[in-house]
Amino acid sequence: MKIKSADFVMSNSDVAKCPNEPLPEYAFIGRSNVGKSSLINMLTERKSLAKTSGRPGKTQLINHFKINGNWFLVDLPGYGYARVSKKDKRTFQKYITDYFIKRKQLVSAFVLVDIRHEPQKVDMEFMEYLGENMIPFSIIFTKADKLKPKQMEANVNSYVKELLNGVWEEAPNYFVTSSSKNMGRDELLHYIESINQEFFKEN
Ligand code: GTP
Ligand code: MG
Repeated sequence: MKIKSADFVMSNSDVAKCPNEPLPEYAFIGRSNVGKSSLINMLTERKSLAKTSGRPGKTQLINHFKINGNWFLVDLPGYGYARVSKKDKRTFQKYITDYFIKRKQLVSAFVLVDIRHEPQKVDMEFMEYLGENMIPFSIIFTKADKLKPKQMEANVNSYVKELLNGVWEEAPNYFVTSSSKNMGRDELLHYIESINQEFFKEN
């Protein structure tokens, strides 16, 4: 799929105020600093469409970006961000979970995990939460440029193995990406395009 346009539409902390057009959307979620915003910029080939930072906690709201005029990418805050006050953290988590539960247009979530790390409890729990709520998701391994190909493959395999040892009977769909090297871009866009086609056939 070619990206012809990518426009910031709005930021807010209330799912009820998100765009109400019946267009398919894809949400990026994961720990702070994992590379959610960078991946949006990589996919859209727009350097600073989504705001990124070396410091965790950059993205604070639900951000809608309209792509090619007929689907949305959604950038969300990191769920593992500890440097906000307890109260902030609670409202933060609440509007994120609200978004996932209530957003009818959400056709798939992408759970981003750093390819260098072993499975983290917070990610496992979030995937289980998505599963329990019947929200389709794929895993996106980020920062693949930080590892040699062999190590990359070994980490992905052991990650998937651990999922299968846990609650998952089937390995989820996954993608290996690097925003700095444009890796995984074609595969992801192709996947999104195929879901969009299904969506427009049915709607
Ligand atoms: P929050 O908004 O805080 O939740 O973080 P985020 O998940 O949106 O992360 P962001 O895209 O802001 O990136 C965090 C840091 O990781 C930045 O310094 C990025 O440059 C870096 N980064 C993101 N993706 C990659 C990647 O593929 N490779 C490398 N080497 N660095 C990356
Ligand atoms: Mg961000």
